[in-house]
Amino acid sequence: MRLASAEIDLTALQENLRLTQKLAPKSKIMAVLKANAYGHGLVKIAQHLQDADAFAVARVDEALALRTGGITKPIVLLEGFFHSSDLPILLANNLQTIVHDISQLEAIEQANLESPLTVWLKIDTGMHRLGVEPEEFEHFYSRLKCSNNVAEKIHLMTHFACADDVGDNKTEIQQVLFKSLVGQSHAPLCLANSAGIIGWPESHGDWIRPGLMLYGVSPMLGRVGQQHGLKPVMRLTTKVIAIKHVKAHQAVGYGSRWQSEQDTYLAVIGVGYGDGYPRHAKVGTPVVIRNRRYGIVGAVSMDMISINIGDNPDNIEVGDEVEMWGPNLPVEEVAQCAETIPYELLCNVTPRVSYEYIEA
Ligand SMILES: Cc1ncc(COP(=O)(O)O)c(C=O)c1O
Repeated sequence: MRLASAEIDLTALQENLRLTQKLAPKSKIMAVLKANAYGHGLVKIAQHLQDADAFAVARVDEALALRTGGITKPIVLLEGFFHSSDLPILLANNLQTIVHDISQLEAIEQANLESPLTVWLKIDTGMHRLGVEPEEFEHFYSRLKCSNNVAEKIHLMTHFACADDVGDNKTEIQQVLFKSLVGQSHAPLCLANSAGIIGWPESHGDWIRPGLMLYGVSPMLGRVGQQHGLKPVMRLTTKVIAIKHVKAHQAVGYGSRWQSEQDTYLAVIGVGYGDGYPRHAKVGTPVVIRNRRYGIVGAVSMDMISINIGDNPDNIEVGDEVEMWGPNLPVEEVAQCAETIPYELLCNVTPRVSYEYIEA
């Protein structure tokens, strides 16, 4: 029996997909599965998103793992390919590529391919990470259209920088620029990530690219998934492994960074940064034991964390389950206590954690 366990609620996953489709009823869905499906298990999650129209990953290896796992839906490489020698692999495995850089365009033009590749041309409308410059768009688009190595239907896409903040007009500016460039193209358009889908309905194009919201987590600043009707998919738990009494002013844990003002009991729990729990979670970060919240104290160590359970420990016993995040404790809240984002917490869950997939 492993202590730390991630229960993955596949029914919640499917309900989140349905809600996503309801929010953007006219759009096709490219479900984003990179980084091991945000830490939820790549193939298993893909198998339970049968109603998605396509999948997206960041690396060729991730796409190949999906194919090996029997996934036959279209797969889009969000960063494209990284070397011309990848191109035959893309074709052999029916992978679609984003083009965002001149090196990719030239590699495609110069390749000797048996059949054309499906291409998504990415335009940088303000994220300033990947994508061709707006003034380069026409040039890239016409060269792609002329290449025999490119399938006839070229998709056009962009990515938002600040869509999580509905008060920031940058998303509006990005949309206006994108539409001014692609308006006459009649190509399929794709703009919105989860934050675009929830916060910017006018950005829903022919395709949407939800990631985080499928896992039941809010992409919007200061919100939790349940506020949008989403259901958390991952429930990370562990067990109490010891109950310990400490006297007032006895320092606890590495660095002796925390001490209680009065005598108290600690529940020592079997999870730590070796399982992916954030080491920087501050004192007071909540956990749930027997439907009650308690705060962590001292430093998070590799395998254990101490929880202050107060001066009456009678109701908590060794072996009790502890929820670190899940339906009773939003991962968004834990992320805030660790000064990070829920994406990072979910992706960081390590292979030491046992995964259990649950279907209603
Ligand atoms: C290009 C692109 N599209 C869509 C997504 C999905 O974003 P989210 O998980 O916020 O929905 C990502 C994730 O980072 C991305 O890089």
